[in-house]
Amino acid sequence: MRLSVIDHPLVAHKLTALRDRGTDSPTFRRLADELVTLLAYEATRDVAVEPHPITTPVGPTTGVRIRSPKPIVVPILRAGLGMLDGMVRLLPTAEVGFLGMIRDEETLQATTYANRLPDDLTGRHCFVLDPMLATGGTLVASITYLLDRGAQDVTALCLLAAPEGLKVVRTAFDEHAQVTVVTAAVDERLDENGYIVPGLGDAGDRLYGVV
Ligand code: URA
Repeated sequence: MRLSVIDHPLVAHKLTALRDRGTDSPTFRRLADELVTLLAYEATRDVAVEPHPITTPVGPTTGVRIRSPKPIVVPILRAGLGMLDGMVRLLPTAEVGFLGMIRDEETLQATTYANRLPDDLTGRHCFVLDPMLATGGTLVASITYLLDRGAQDVTALCLLAAPEGLKVVRTAFDEHAQVTVVTAAVDERLDENGYIVPGLGDAGDRLYGVV
C-alpha cells in the first residue's frame, strides 16, 4: 500500500475550516468539495493515458487522453457522496459506481449491503471516496470487493485518516503496490467511540445534518 499525505497550505487552510465545529453544513459541503478536488489532482497522478493526436490552430501535435477502460469513481454511502462532485469535476469521463457498507456490531466485520458496479472490473482504476479512514474496516472491505472483481488499481481518497485505520489498511494490502491512500491529514488517534481525534466529528451528519 502507498500513502500520500497532501502537504499544501491551501489544503491545510480548508481542512482547518472544515474541522471547526462552528462551520455550518452548506459551508462544510463546499469545503469538502474543494478539498476533494485538490486531493483528486494528486490521486490521479498515475491514471493511465494514451497518445492522442490533435491539430491546434497552428499545427498538428500529439497529446494524451485518458485511456479506456475508463476509471470508476466509487463513493461509499452515505458520507462518500459528499465527495463525488469534487472528484468528477476533475475526472468527468469516469464512470460512477456505488458501494454501501454496513458493519456487523457483533463481529465488527463490514459487509456490502448495496452495490451498483460492473461485475467485471478487470483492468479498471477505481477511486474510492470515503471521507473518514477511522478503524479501516469499511475501507478494507471496499478495496477487497473491488480487487476481487479484477480492479487493477484502487486509490482511496479520504479527507482524514487515523493511524489505527491506516495500520489496518496497510496490514491488509501490504503486498499490493496498486493500492494507494490519499489523504489531507493523518490525525492523532481514535477515541473510545471510534471518532478521529481531533477530526471533524461525524462527516455524514456534518454534510447532511442529522437524519
Ligand atoms: N466517521 C466519522 O464520520 N467521523 C469519525 O471521526 C470517524 C468515523
